[in-house]
Amino acid sequence: MNKRAEIMTGLEQSAFWMPYTANRQFKKAPRLLARAEGMYYWTPEGRKVLDGCAGLWCVNAGHSRPKIVEAVRRQVATMDFAPTFQMGHPIAFEFADRLARIAPPGLSRVFFTNSGSEAVDTALKIALAYQRARGEGQRFRLIGRERGYHGVNFGGMSVGGIPFNRKTFGPGVAGVDHIRHTHDPARNAFSRGQPAHGAELADDLERVCQLHDPSSIAAVIVEPVAGSTGVLVPPQGYLERLREICTKHGILLIFDEVITGFGRLGKAFASQRFGVLPDLCTAAKGLTNGTVPMGAVFVRDTIYDAFMQGPDGIELFHGYTYSGHPLACAAGLGTLETFEEEGLFERAAALDAYWQDAAHALKDARHVVDIRNLGLVAGIELEPRKGAPGRRAYETFVKSFEAGVLIRYTGDTIAFSPPLIIEKPQIDRIFETTRSILSALD
Ligand SMILES: Cc1ncc(COP(=O)(O)O)c(C=O)c1O
Repeated sequence: MNKRAEIMTGLEQSAFWMPYTANRQFKKAPRLLARAEGMYYWTPEGRKVLDGCAGLWCVNAGHSRPKIVEAVRRQVATMDFAPTFQMGHPIAFEFADRLARIAPPGLSRVFFTNSGSEAVDTALKIALAYQRARGEGQRFRLIGRERGYHGVNFGGMSVGGIPFNRKTFGPGVAGVDHIRHTHDPARNAFSRGQPAHGAELADDLERVCQLHDPSSIAAVIVEPVAGSTGVLVPPQGYLERLREICTKHGILLIFDEVITGFGRLGKAFASQRFGVLPDLCTAAKGLTNGTVPMGAVFVRDTIYDAFMQGPDGIELFHGYTYSGHPLACAAGLGTLETFEEEGLFERAAALDAYWQDAAHALKDARHVVDIRNLGLVAGIELEPRKGAPGRRAYETFVKSFEAGVLIRYTGDTIAFSPPLIIEKPQIDRIFETTRSILSALD
């Protein structure tokens, strides 16, 4: 047995403290992946697994794409690292400028981070610093939304609306409040695309404005489509209304596009799909096709310009050692090239109808209480097993992996978000596998 195979059979004592994982359960019965190409993973034993969730919502162009592999290989051999604090390297400027061309209109300044969580915290800090720079330093409040997920750092966790995080890690950042979430199965169950009911839930921001006075609020952050808390698609007219209220009160609107960015909904960014323009938006995951960790904040020109009016010197006291890391920029350029050559920004729109029909065909499947979809995302919500919430979705996920299809689950919702290169027979395989598992599940 070679060294790596040995490690894999003795995981129970492994030093690796796995993230967001039931460590003891996993190490007793590991699910391992050893190789990937295109739409597939292979397990260490050579079993082929169809990727129904783009790794972790990030491998949007499919695995080990040649342009990306070659760009990273070339870059690591040329220059492994160079700082971006008071120094620069051409590839970071090139990548930012290329990104600005696909960004939502006007959001053409790019701040690099290493993850979605860091992008969120960076966006929140830019919002606070901008309000101060324009003479509105009393705007210190940050408003999130119930059931929001904005990563795991303190800022993102605080504006996030996940009770478990809030319970475990204490009060978080001061001056945070939340508007209501938009999930309304009583009126919207089995909606195809954007639900018809709930635009008025955006008015909850007016309630929060009344409570705190709008002049104390710096920014509101929402995911255009909430992914990690169960695929919650915004009701028709909701994001438009949120935009109006923010504009009326001088509040910045931040879209967290860590999941929705990079073609997931059929445009480069969700804001372009919805026709609603935020003031800042985050990206990560698909930005480098998951190859090298990277996040980014896209910032409206006028916000950047406000920082450039101050005294000469460092305009924003913020940055990461690896902001604009050369390997991440190389992976990003390779990703952009792949997307542009293969029309991947638009591909989710072309498959939208087929995907929607395939997902909603499970309406009569066992245990299913709701199906939600948009672009190449779908959530199938199961009725919780009595006394064991989340268990049915977990078992579906495990059995699906055993049957050769990788999916995700969150709570009692199974989430699907395949690479955008998926073909129709592969879409059929994903949902047929889920149907057959559900039919045999307690
Ligand atoms: C909307 C959103 N924001 C932020 C994050 C955090 O990104 P990361 O895990 O790269 O820190 C995620 C991760 O899933 C996300 O879905």
